[in-house]
Amino acid sequence: MPNVQGLPGTPVPHPTPTETDAPSGDLIEAVGATAAYENRRARIRLIALRDITLSVRKGEFLAIVGPSGCGKTTFINMIAGFVKPVGGTVKVRGQEVTGPGADRAMVFQNYALLPWRTVEANIAFAMENKRGQVPKAERAERIAEVLQLVGLKGFEKSYPHELSGGMQQRVGIARALVTKPEILLMDEPFGAVDAMTREAMQAELESIIMETKQTVVFITHSIDEAITLGDRVVVVSNRPGTIREVVDVELPRPRFAHQDLKSHPRFQETRRHLWALLSDEALGAKGEPA
Ligand SMILES: Nc1ncnc2c1ncn2[C@@H]1O[C@H](COP(=O)(O)OP(=O)(O)OP(=O)(O)O)[C@@H](O)[C@H]1O
Ligand SMILES: [Mg+2]
Repeated sequence: MPNVQGLPGTPVPHPTPTETDAPSGDLIEAVGATAAYENRRARIRLIALRDITLSVRKGEFLAIVGPSGCGKTTFINMIAGFVKPVGGTVKVRGQEVTGPGADRAMVFQNYALLPWRTVEANIAFAMENKRGQVPKAERAERIAEVLQLVGLKGFEKSYPHELSGGMQQRVGIARALVTKPEILLMDEPFGAVDAMTREAMQAELESIIMETKQTVVFITHSIDEAITLGDRVVVVSNRPGTIREVVDVELPRPRFAHQDLKSHPRFQETRRHLWALLSDEALGAKGEPA
C-alpha cells in the first residue's frame, strides 16, 4: 500500500486478495431498484428511491451526488445488503444481493464505530468478521499500515469518544480499507475532515484504487470532489430519488498528478453542468408542498 505522504508514480496493477475470477464488465447492477421505508405506527410508506437502473463496471469509480434526503445512502445500503429493494433487483457479480458480504466494505456517513473498542480494535473487527481472509499473523501489520495511511498513527489505543469527528471518520475509512475488499462503498467519507486532510486523502484514495483496481461507489456533497475522483458522476433527483443524469468525467488519471486540475477546461465544463443539474433539483425541492 502506498504511504500517506508520497503521491504515486506509475501505478503497478496487482489483484487484491479478495478479487475473484468474475468476468470483466459490470460488477454491480441495479435494475429498476426501488426502496421504501415503512412507518407502521403512522401507516406511511415512504418511497426513498424509485426505479434505479445503473451498472458499475469492475474497477470503476462511481461518484453519486444529489440533494439531502434523495436516497443516496439508501442506494449504497442496497448494494451493501443492508436494505432490500421492494421492487427491481440489485446484483453483484450477477448474484442478487441478499445480505452483507466480505467482498463489500462500507464507510458509514455517521462513522458507526464501536464505542467500547479502541481504534485498533475497531479496525481489527473488520478482519475478525471475515475470518480466514486476513491471516492472524498479518493483522497487526495491516492495522499499522492503514493507520499510517489515514494519519492516525499513535492513536491505536484511543477510544472513539477521545477522537474528533474527522478522526473517527478516518478510523471508519481505515476499517473499510483494511480487508482490501473488491468493492468500497463510501458514504461521504471525507465530510468531517478538514480541507487539507481531505485533499490528501482524496489523493491517497486515488492512488490506492489505481493500484488495487477496487471498485468504488462514493457519495459526496462536493461537486469538485465528485469530478476529481469519479469516472462517472450520477446525479440523483429529489426524493423519491431517480437518476437525473449520469455524467462522464473525461479527465486522465492520476488526477492528482495534475498541478491545476480544477482549471482544466473539461473540469470546469463538467462542474458547470453538474451545478446546473443540482440547482435545478434544489429549486424543485423549494417548489414542493411542505
Ligand atoms: N431507516 C429509515 N427509516 C425510515 N426512513 C428512512 C430511513 N433511512 C432513510 N429514510 C428516509 O429515506 C429518504 C432517503 O434517505 P437517505 O438517507 O438515503 O438520503 P441521502 O440522500 O443519503 O441524504 P443525505 O445527503 O442527507 O445523507 C429520506 O427521506 C429519509 O428520511
Ligand atoms: Mg446519506
